[in-house]
Amino acid sequence: MQFQKKLLIPYDAIQKRVRELARQISIDYRGKDTVLIGMLNGAVFFFSDLALQLTVPAKIDFIRASSYGSQMISSGKVKLTKDVELSVTDKSVLIIEDIVDTGLTVSHVISHLNTRDPESVEVCALIDKSERREINVAVRYCGFRLKEGFVVGYGLDCNEEYRCLKDIYTLE
Ligand code: IMP
Repeated sequence: MQFQKKLLIPYDAIQKRVRELARQISIDYRGKDTVLIGMLNGAVFFFSDLALQLTVPAKIDFIRASSYGSQMISSGKVKLTKDVELSVTDKSVLIIEDIVDTGLTVSHVISHLNTRDPESVEVCALIDKSERREINVAVRYCGFRLKEGFVVGYGLDCNEEYRCLKDIYTLE
């Protein structure tokens, strides 16, 4: 199926927002033993741009969860396909996610990490589609809010396409 893509958030606006988020996170995580956990693959560019802007030390690790069957339909079932390798026990964990939509994926990851007794677990999402939420998830840091639509670019995909675009687009 062929989609039309329409520019939604240009790269410069993404970078400006990333700097703002990094400034706030650097204040909130001062003096903490922090582990940033990037959700592969969608958060990869957001994760690296954000991590490079932090002014506080942090360790980094990655986790991968899949919930989307194919294209734009969520399967509703979350499966971890790669786990974190660092210990998160007693650490201040900040999950860096691309999009929180129904909330099922990130809440599964939060529950999984909580079994390892971290000091805290918070979520930083590039995009929050809070109106589609099916499960309550507190997104402490949010780049952009989106009411509707399916977006691609800057790491976000549709069936593994479009991830390497610099800007964020809606697919129509
Ligand atoms: P949730 O479990 O419904 O919150 O879905 C979260 C995951 O679905 C995200 O990590 C994305 O990988 C994917 N997702 C949700 N909405 C979009 C979108 O608009 N574009 C690309 N991926 C999306």
